[in-house]
Amino acid sequence: MRNRLFISSLFLATTLSLSAQKSATITLSSDQGEQIIPKEIYGQFAEHLGTCIYGGLWVGEDSAIPNINGYRTDVFNALKDLQVPVLRWPGGCFADEYHWMDGIGPKENRPKMVNNNWGGTIEDNSFGTHEFLNLCEMLGCEPYISGNVGSGTVEELAKWVEYMTSDGDSPMANLRRKNGRDKAWKVKFLGVGNESWGCGGSMRPEYYADLYRRYSTYCRNYDGNNLFKIASGASDYDYNWTKVLMDRVGSRMQGLSLHYYTVTGWSGSKGSATQFNNDDYYWTMGKCREIEDVLKKHCEIMDQFDPNKNVALLLDEWGTWWDEEPGTIRGHLYQQNTLRDAFVASLSLDIFHKYTDRLKMANIAQIVNVLQSMILTKDSQMVLTPTYYVFKMYKVHQDATYLPLDINCEVVSLEGERNNNRQLPLISATASKDKDGKIHISLSNVDVDNAQEVTVNLPEGLKVKKAVGEILTSAKLTDYNSFEKPDNVKIAALKETKISKGVLKLKVPAKSIITVELQ
Ligand code: AHR
Repeated sequence: MRNRLFISSLFLATTLSLSAQKSATITLSSDQGEQIIPKEIYGQFAEHLGTCIYGGLWVGEDSAIPNINGYRTDVFNALKDLQVPVLRWPGGCFADEYHWMDGIGPKENRPKMVNNNWGGTIEDNSFGTHEFLNLCEMLGCEPYISGNVGSGTVEELAKWVEYMTSDGDSPMANLRRKNGRDKAWKVKFLGVGNESWGCGGSMRPEYYADLYRRYSTYCRNYDGNNLFKIASGASDYDYNWTKVLMDRVGSRMQGLSLHYYTVTGWSGSKGSATQFNNDDYYWTMGKCREIEDVLKKHCEIMDQFDPNKNVALLLDEWGTWWDEEPGTIRGHLYQQNTLRDAFVASLSLDIFHKYTDRLKMANIAQIVNVLQSMILTKDSQMVLTPTYYVFKMYKVHQDATYLPLDINCEVVSLEGERNNNRQLPLISATASKDKDGKIHISLSNVDVDNAQEVTVNLPEGLKVKKAVGEILTSAKLTDYNSFEKPDNVKIAALKETKISKGVLKLKVPAKSIITVELQ
């Protein structure tokens, strides 16, 4: 079931300047829910890139920065609160140059390497398999290992799986025991290569399809650990990649990945993360919503080959990609995160919920200090980004039953070449019912200037006395949390909600995101 959207009027984004009260109507039918929103839609991604791992997640046991067995305490606690369901590692592009055996055993013996993809930084391998899988255990999340196909061997990947998951008297299990871990870890998600069309080996889909078949054959299920094998998928609009993989790999894979970034282009400036105008903002909203078309088209192709939806689509990289912050190291992809990024998160999650009959995971890039991150750190300081707060407000939807909405709101037509004549609804929303029967509605008012009076028609017979909620907004779209002002953008209690005769009335200020719980 998909949200239905009614277009009530069209006009140019650039004419949106007068402040006024607007209105929208949403109809919720609580008995229509069929799909579960897999918690993995709220997945994260951690790459050996910039300060994502070193300084972000990991500082080492001997650091002056407070830590739990080497993991930063502040970051760990913030992530624990977010209920991270799955964490992808070690890349990204890094994964296809990573040799896992360099990252096990005594730290002083681990060889160094050059991180060629990301600024030529020296990688000392002090964060390896044990450090990653132990972190996942502590966070209570599923690990998603991205294996090296581009520059690795079949034997290397096969042995990694054995090292992590075999409990028998096998050579790799014994090596793991020698390195201090007796019991095998549970590893469900295994990526067989990353961006194999690009940094992962510049392959053609036909060639990669055969390689996938070969590599995945030797990735065994040991001792009750059942791998969910994921083939390296397409980028954005490359529908042929999906077609070839579905045709030539089919049910040999449990999942096929997809990457989609909200980015202006791959050459030249991508624009500042913090200095932008309203036109740039509306462009961003249109571009991030375009993922709906992209998802639909990849799903249609998958449906042709796999009508029973046995192969999952996994959007294992998504989010905004802006210019690196001035003064930071080139190739480290460190960017600030404003209220605009928060909208990219909320609008994208609203869309993902609609396609969970096929889309089973999404991993925002990346968890700390890289691209559209949850958290930024500087030495011992940490800030939570506006995107973090969206994930916090939306965590109620994890593993809840998706409830389709009819949304009737104003839609603007974004004109001009760069906008590709995209249509932008000014209200985006999603709803779900959790395991205890509680209904949550998340709603974004994308309009920069105008508040929205939103009428939510509740299903007949639903007994609701009040709606309690939270709101994320700020004076300016360009507002962000800095180390000097860490609480500039943060969640507040939502005041204006009214319920009467089966109708919920919400006053949603301009450029704000809310989540309400019906009680
Ligand atoms: O997330 C940054 C990079 O983007 C990843 O390493 C790569 O897979 C993608 O191109």
